[in-house]
Amino acid sequence: MWAYGQPEYLKHVREDRLWWGKTGNYKLPKLKRFRSEAPSELVPRTLWQAEEVSQTRTARQEMKLLFADEPFSTPKPEKLMQKVISLATNPGDLVLDSFAGSGTTGAVAHKMGRRWIMVELGEHCHTHIVPRLKKVIDGEDQGGISKAVNWQGGGGFRYLRLAPSLLKKDQWGNWVINPAYNAEMLAEAMCKHMGFTYAPSQTYYWMHGHSSETDFIYVTTGSLSHDQLRLIGEEVGGERSLLICCKAFMADAEAFPNLTLKKIPRAILGKCEWDHDDYSFSIDLLAETPDDEPLEDQ
Ligand SMILES: C[S@@+](CC[C@H](N)C(=O)[O-])C[C@H]1O[C@@H](n2cnc3c(N)ncnc32)[C@H](O)[C@@H]1O
Repeated sequence: MWAYGQPEYLKHVREDRLWWGKTGNYKLPKLKRFRSEAPSELVPRTLWQAEEVSQTRTARQEMKLLFADEPFSTPKPEKLMQKVISLATNPGDLVLDSFAGSGTTGAVAHKMGRRWIMVELGEHCHTHIVPRLKKVIDGEDQGGISKAVNWQGGGGFRYLRLAPSLLKKDQWGNWVINPAYNAEMLAEAMCKHMGFTYAPSQTYYWMHGHSSETDFIYVTTGSLSHDQLRLIGEEVGGERSLLICCKAFMADAEAFPNLTLKKIPRAILGKCEWDHDDYSFSIDLLAETPDDEPLEDQ
């Protein structure tokens, strides 16, 4: 693939600007650029040499040892992430990579004794990140920085999946409860959003969770009538209070001193962003580098 047209290429040849690697083994040449030609205000102030932080070529080899396929064309070497993490954090600190990809940042953070959180939207989570981190924990991953930090394995992680959006807009633009939620999921999600501990009772159908020993929550997609609410109110009694989150109620909300009535969508609309499950920051918006072949060790 040609990065430049033929006249430009011939000019580069005449000016001896093409670098084919130390042994001339590159399939594509690199263009030599000189500091004297760089705009003065944009000159980098630090230089990380390939001997210190390695290069994409090495990262590809690291990937090949871990995975049959290459998930990314320009993976980062573990040594590079080791330098970044050692500059910015201390052992025990939390490292967040919200675009986890193949999980290099988390794997390096783990081997360096940092805690980590990785977030990944795509399939890489179960195809790459989880198997990779399992190998790290079992001490099977002896690639990357493992030898340098004498990595022997250890530690652990939890793998959580984000639930779908709890609220969705229906065809008329009204907020409704997402049909993907069953009764238990809905009760658990509402407990979380309303600050209650989910702990469904075996005895009382209306007791889904609690915020104290005497304050409880009941979540239902039903519409509650005045009589139903009166019966629940009697069971709750004067010593306890109950928050009822329901689809609708046909009663005076103030009629029962021990009950607080809330309609589900309205009660939680302000608490989160709803109805888009990717919370998309699209990395496609970032400019793409046409050919990101790395620099050879100098
Ligand atoms: C180039 S990779 C990042 C590499 C990684 N940070 C590392 O340590 O090697 C970018 C990843 O971000 C993921 N991604 C894109 N948009 C996302 C989003 N909104 N939330 C989570 N992950 C997202 C992509 O699926 C892709 O796997």
